[in-house]
Amino acid sequence: MKAEDILALKNEAEQELKTAKNAEELEKARIKYLGRKGLLPEIMKGLKTLPPEERPDAGKYSNEFKSACEALFTSRLAELGTDNGAEQKDSFDPTLPGQWQTSGSVHPITAIIAEAVTIFSSLGFTIADGPDIETEYYNFDALNTPDDHPSRDTQDTFWLDDKMLLRTQTSPVQIRVMEKQKPPVRIIAPGRCYRRDTTDATHSANFQQIEGLYVDKNVSMADLKSDISYFARRMMGPNVKVRFRPHFFPFTEPSVEYDFSCHLCRGKGCRICKQSGWIEISGAGMVNPKVFQKVGYDPETTAGYAFGMGVERIAMIKFGIPDIRMLYDNDIRFLRQLAL
Ligand code: DAH
Repeated sequence: MKAEDILALKNEAEQELKTAKNAEELEKARIKYLGRKGLLPEIMKGLKTLPPEERPDAGKYSNEFKSACEALFTSRLAELGTDNGAEQKDSFDPTLPGQWQTSGSVHPITAIIAEAVTIFSSLGFTIADGPDIETEYYNFDALNTPDDHPSRDTQDTFWLDDKMLLRTQTSPVQIRVMEKQKPPVRIIAPGRCYRRDTTDATHSANFQQIEGLYVDKNVSMADLKSDISYFARRMMGPNVKVRFRPHFFPFTEPSVEYDFSCHLCRGKGCRICKQSGWIEISGAGMVNPKVFQKVGYDPETTAGYAFGMGVERIAMIKFGIPDIRMLYDNDIRFLRQLAL
């Protein structure tokens, strides 16, 4: 075909592509001109039969024909693509892979709290809650914390004004529950706490605790030890060891601190447990009679134990997380690995 005929056909093709009313018509025009058995391949094939002096022009126009019509087709298809339901259905390819929706995973801290709730529920505990913004009374006074106790210091506590603060522990929930409820009481209170700690591998200015309180007539240290040990075995596995050490807290008497044997090195000593084989989980003890007096319980006939545990500590040893900051960085690559 001569160059001028190619140009004329190109115009015709462009006209048809431009005026196609829907995707179906557009596709017909494409097949007619650009399809494998269409007019353009025909022209291309015929180029070699032309006299040599006509070939360059004819070749050039054929190439222009191809690129112009292909571009026009693509842009018109985008325009009409959704216009034709029938066409869409026909072109649906069920063998193409679907689009993956990545599902989220539970944050390790949430996972530990959920598991602790399950374990303590099986012992008859219910969940209690208290505010993050606390009064000095609930966070310190009612918990028998002396006026000059260092934890009240502005270096340890975020004070909001003279009397209000961000709670430094979940222990104030004990007071709020006992004020409202007569014994027996059996609650756990998971929640966020705040301290003016400088952040490092094991400290964070906000962190989570799970408070526990069991008050009845004959509660003893034996109940505390057995319940904490039971919790430890269910949370960490049957081989975990629990150690109780004497300690002091103003709101318990006697008081202890308790450690779990290090899950990672099985007590042999590693970087996470600072070579000691033990990880401190937190404090506990028998509720101080002075606390019972504050909430109007009779200290003569009432006994109870209380404990508080650090959720991050448990998450770190259970999942082998070397730095507390990883729990708060929100790095999706880290969180995905746990995929709980
Ligand atoms: N509130 C204490 C702390 O943050 C932990 C604690 C110790 C809680 C003894 C208790 C307890 O309930 O009885 O260090």
